[in-house]
Amino acid sequence: MIFRQLFDAESSTYTYLLGDEATRHAVLIDPVLEQVERDLKLVAELDLTLTHVFDTHVHADHVTASGVLRERTQATVVGGVGGASCANVHVRHGDEVRVGELVFRVLATPGHTDDSLSYLLGDRVFTGDALLIRGNGRTDFQNGNARQLYDSLTRVLFTLPDSTLVYPGHDYQGRTVSSIAEEKRHNPRVAGKSEAEFIHIMENLNLPKPRKIDIAVPANRACGHTAPAPQGA
Ligand SMILES: [Fe+2]
Repeated sequence: MIFRQLFDAESSTYTYLLGDEATRHAVLIDPVLEQVERDLKLVAELDLTLTHVFDTHVHADHVTASGVLRERTQATVVGGVGGASCANVHVRHGDEVRVGELVFRVLATPGHTDDSLSYLLGDRVFTGDALLIRGNGRTDFQNGNARQLYDSLTRVLFTLPDSTLVYPGHDYQGRTVSSIAEEKRHNPRVAGKSEAEFIHIMENLNLPKPRKIDIAVPANRACGHTAPAPQGA
């Protein structure tokens, strides 16, 4: 398997490229609009064909490249049921998505947003903003729900094998990968915390509104295409 972890410094977003050695088919998970040229160059250099784009959720902090990548490569855009209506395929918990001979299993991990998915491939799980390294996505907008996220973390992600490698959607402190065992033991929001304690923590973070939310959320519902300006505006 071909695997690359890419980073967008502006939004601290990780994008993942995974390719199947046999068919050379590949997927980008959570590509960022400003990084389209970088990502397509790498796909070409590795002699891959981009057949799929997965978005883990409708992002508030950056604009997805999924729509532009689809136009440039004819890739199939995969998103969650209830997420971006522009996706070609809407998946739900337990579904499988094949990229060449790679078989991804879809895990519904709502709570950061109501459409949040994780994608499991063998011993790696791509968690978007549901589970971050020593943290988790905020739950105070986009139909976020702390109780639901607690369930997603403790009943879905933490039931994966301890050795499963956790590849998050972001990191703000330079960390790149964790494991289920590590997060079960050391994640300060959820390790050893009851549901009530977790909800209390999430309700008292007092985070500023993301800078790009008013642009990013509507654009991402359209796979990264911003709406045309209203007539006469
Ligand atoms: Fe997010």
